[in-house]
Amino acid sequence: MTTSPISGSRATAARRVLDALPSGLLIGGRWRAATGGATLAVHDPATGEELAQVADAQPEDAVAALDAAAAAQPGWAATPPRERGEILRRAFELLVEHTEDLALLMTLEMGKSLSESKAEVAYGAEFFRWFSEQAVRIEGRYARAPATSERLLTMKQPVGPCLLVTPWNFPLAMATRKIGPAVAAGCTMVLKPAQLTPLTSLRLAQLLSEAGLPDGVLNVVTSRSAGKTVGPLMSDPRLRKLSFTGSTEVGQALVEQSAKNLLRLSMELGGNAPFLVFADADLDAAVEGAVIAKMRNNGESCVAANRFHVAAEVAEEFTRRLAERLGSLEVGHGASEGTQVGPLINEEQRRKVEELVADATSKGAKALVGGSRVDGPGYFYQPTVLAGVGPDARILREEVFGPVAPVTSFETEDEAVAAANDTEFGLVAYVYTGDLKRGLRVVEALETGMVGLNRGLVSNAAAPFGGVKHSGFGREGGVEGIEEYLETKYVAVDL
Ligand code: SIN
Repeated sequence: MTTSPISGSRATAARRVLDALPSGLLIGGRWRAATGGATLAVHDPATGEELAQVADAQPEDAVAALDAAAAAQPGWAATPPRERGEILRRAFELLVEHTEDLALLMTLEMGKSLSESKAEVAYGAEFFRWFSEQAVRIEGRYARAPATSERLLTMKQPVGPCLLVTPWNFPLAMATRKIGPAVAAGCTMVLKPAQLTPLTSLRLAQLLSEAGLPDGVLNVVTSRSAGKTVGPLMSDPRLRKLSFTGSTEVGQALVEQSAKNLLRLSMELGGNAPFLVFADADLDAAVEGAVIAKMRNNGESCVAANRFHVAAEVAEEFTRRLAERLGSLEVGHGASEGTQVGPLINEEQRRKVEELVADATSKGAKALVGGSRVDGPGYFYQPTVLAGVGPDARILREEVFGPVAPVTSFETEDEAVAAANDTEFGLVAYVYTGDLKRGLRVVEALETGMVGLNRGLVSNAAAPFGGVKHSGFGREGGVEGIEEYLETKYVAVDL
């Protein structure tokens, strides 16, 4: 394990990438300091070292960002869709061209391994390519009224200025997943990236300008407090939409705040994904799928498998094999050669993971591998598999957001489905079975917005990502994604 600071050519590359970043807020096409010159520090979670200082926007800066977005809105809405699409296409190409630097930046501020970061650049860039193609497919309808000579005309128009609030776990892809459809639809934006990982958004905004995005269409406000800084925008009548990715708790508060201004909302909130393995499943595929569903992004993803429900006949073998795989993963500084699992984002997150593991083991679970923090600098936690997890363990109900896989067993299909649905969350579920009829039966019974059927990864720019129940509402990506940024206007035509 190499958790020490990076050195040599990687350290030089890190310094170059950090030094090239713009400092300040992007408002109306100009980079400027926050009011009063306030700044906030960004740290490397693998070492605790400070990486950079960025502007800490004040409420008046957020209002200035909305002023710029509102001023740019009419011109942007009138820009031909092909032009909007071509800007996105150029931005896609720029992201791909700058993969190495963007990946290093993400690894530095978020902790994930370089290979994970590169995968995120590919995933994040794909939203720009996808929505560059969708920009020219915004359609309306012309229909005859059923019983009169009237004609019914419908057209799609941009919602208007949007506030996009993104999380720290996917600093690039969660931004492109919102910016892509907003740009394609003709909306202007204020982007508020997470306090812990603002650097990637600054570089992304620079690349979008280079791709030709006009001034004022995207405004970026980095800040240590979303509530204080962008909260006032929620009641500003010029703001028309909020797209938020983050915790259910914060999402619920934002939904309440949005009521006054009746904002359009997209809410991508918490998860508690069940991973079901039936006795007829291909066990090799199930174990590999489990490794991806659990360990992608260090387990810090709302679609991470949170709990494993395995048919009693194969539970022991599945758990043993999963423990072997997780135990063999290389933990280290994300930018070190060979690292597969980086640190958690901060001490608070690591403590939460520890607490959930301690709770499960105090109720009878046994760690087959891992089970504790890694001493030294950074917020490392060992990949962990817990066997014999009791039904009252908190880890089955709460999102762990870390590299811990609790395993329980079931006897019947009904029992498996009931266990999977026994949560207020409904983002995604994973099902492994060799029986297609069973697979489809279970898929239909699951109360989630997405299902991986014999697959441990559902994320795809061309597919509608989103949940039900306390996991939120609205869909990002796919043909559905752009609809979140469009209003339908109906015109009654008298012929
Ligand atoms: C998330 O964790 O919020 C998103 C994960 C993904 O898009 O795959």
